Amino acid sequence: MTATATATATAMPAATGGVSTRVVTGLKPTGRLHVGNYVGAVRPLLDLARSVGTQTLVFVADLHAMTVEHDPGRLRDQTRELAATLLACGLGDDATLFLQSAVPAHTGLAYLLECTAGYGEMARMIQFKEKAGAERGSARLSLLTYPTLMAADVLVYRADVVPVGDDQRQHLELTRTLARRFNARYGEVFTVPAAATPPSAARIRSLRDPAAKMGKSSSADGSVHLIDPPVRIAAAVRSAVTDLDPVLSYDPELRPGVANLAELLGALTGRTPHSALAGLRGAGALKAALTEVLVETLRPVRSRYAELVADPAELDRRMARGAAAAAALAAPTLAAVRAAMGIVDVGQASM
Ligand code: TYM
Repeated sequence: MTATATATATAMPAATGGVSTRVVTGLKPTGRLHVGNYVGAVRPLLDLARSVGTQTLVFVADLHAMTVEHDPGRLRDQTRELAATLLACGLGDDATLFLQSAVPAHTGLAYLLECTAGYGEMARMIQFKEKAGAERGSARLSLLTYPTLMAADVLVYRADVVPVGDDQRQHLELTRTLARRFNARYGEVFTVPAAATPPSAARIRSLRDPAAKMGKSSSADGSVHLIDPPVRIAAAVRSAVTDLDPVLSYDPELRPGVANLAELLGALTGRTPHSALAGLRGAGALKAALTEVLVETLRPVRSRYAELVADPAELDRRMARGAAAAAALAAPTLAAVRAAMGIVDVGQASM
């Protein structure tokens, strides 16, 4: 495991049942994956997936994309695009990749968890307050309840470790609370998962506005996307906001622009932000070094992506195989939860 993924290595619990440590995470298909997602979630995930004794599941959180106004055609395209991008990053080799909506146990468990959660704790979630506030009363109900679906995404696999960036930590904390509450009230069914957050790349900020988080939705907002061509990467880094002091130093408070680039460069090269600046003089040199590393890191991702999107039928087959494997792992947990909560099992209605 590299420095970028050590995250909560100390918090990494012992293997479940002596088999392995199960790692689970999801990403929403609401725009192109950017380098913040990459260093905050994908890279740590790849490192964990490749380490001995882990079993990794990663899914495209397509149902989460429906918690805000969405266009069906766009959702379809962005779902396949995200799946192909994750495969292009190498996740297909060491992890089980699937679509959240293709494993009904996620929504099946989410409702049961809603029966253990309170309205107040959902309404307190920062992301709900931010997004619902902006929508002035027309927010979808699923935006409020989505943290229980996210909890179900993780708990249904009895995940030990969940790699996420900083912005998802509150949801992860809620997941842990719901798991503990359930276990205390209905019996020990769930594993209480640990968050794995990279030490310094948990919140990569916009290159244009270091006060804001780098986001997926817009390409003009100072994001570098994983499938951007080199010229675009170079232009985005060139336009990054820095300062005029030629002596570089890592100071997130006073020099947020330089610190953001240093965090990114450090995360991509397995160093601390501070040591990533060593030997560089001036923002121009920092930008040149970062551009080079980004172009080299993303070059193979971009070319594998082009091959994968050229064959959508094969992409769908791979997702279907992933979903079947994930569904087999989820079924026993859902059955245990239903039984523990008092649901009488009379079998499934045949279609
Ligand atoms: P999403 O799709 O917004 O982001 C995917 C992952 O990338 C991390 N991330 C960042 N890390 C560093 N710097 C940034 N600027 C940055 N922006 C995003 C996120 O923290 C996340 O780890 N609700 C989730 C998806 C989800 C999920 C789950 C995650 C659904 N179910 C279960 C974990 C477990 C989301 O919207 O992530």
